[in-house]
Amino acid sequence: MNIMVIEENWVLKETREQDLDRVLEIEGKEENLAYVYNWSRSQHLDTMNNRDQKHLCLWDPTEERIMGYMILAGMQSPHESLELMRITIDEKGEGYGKEAIRWVKNFCFDTLGYHRLWLDVFTNNHKAISIYRQLGFTEEGILRDCKKYGDSYRSMMLFSILEGEYKEHANS
Ligand SMILES: CC(C)(COP(=O)(O)OP(=O)(O)OC[C@H]1O[C@@H](n2cnc3c(N)ncnc32)[C@H](O)[C@@H]1OP(=O)(O)O)[C@@H](O)C(=O)NCCC(=O)NCCS
Repeated sequence: MNIMVIEENWVLKETREQDLDRVLEIEGKEENLAYVYNWSRSQHLDTMNNRDQKHLCLWDPTEERIMGYMILAGMQSPHESLELMRITIDEKGEGYGKEAIRWVKNFCFDTLGYHRLWLDVFTNNHKAISIYRQLGFTEEGILRDCKKYGDSYRSMMLFSILEGEYKEHANS
């Protein structure tokens, strides 16, 4: 399945190798490093070549500038469960993050016909957590101290939305 979505304010396309410089630039910004992992080019390439995953870039409508990227996992899930593995938006606060996550919900439940969409998020990522709640995700719990950063540990929250809940929140 090749993904290509054209909306009024953005275009979503599969990431190409030549897009990775910009992806790495966005990922490496300090404001993003606090909340997403810092991968190498080859880790991103592995994801692009993994049939279970989708590496997507969000472009401006003229397709001149990459505004962010997302990684989805579980494209071949026997459990009909899709993971929003990563989302990073460079042009923050303009509504692109919310729009992109709304698209992921539609894609998961309407296009793939899946049962579950889930993600994990660092407990101090208040902005992302607020967006997931607004978009109808339910908190499943906290993985306490699950990630080691230098000498300290960080916790992550799990969020999910199921197909019935998606239908209830169809307009959010
Ligand atoms: C999280 C992220 C994807 C959101 O994308 P975005 O385009 O900046 O977000 P949007 O403009 O769509 O929406 C922002 C919403 O968060 C709210 N918000 C902003 N700062 C907030 C804060 N500190 N606490 C709670 N809510 C906050 C805004 O009010 C807005 O909601 P509104 O539309 O009701 O006003 C983006 O900021 C990002 O890439 N962050 C770094 C990487 C990251 O955290 N990724 C998610 C990992 S799980």
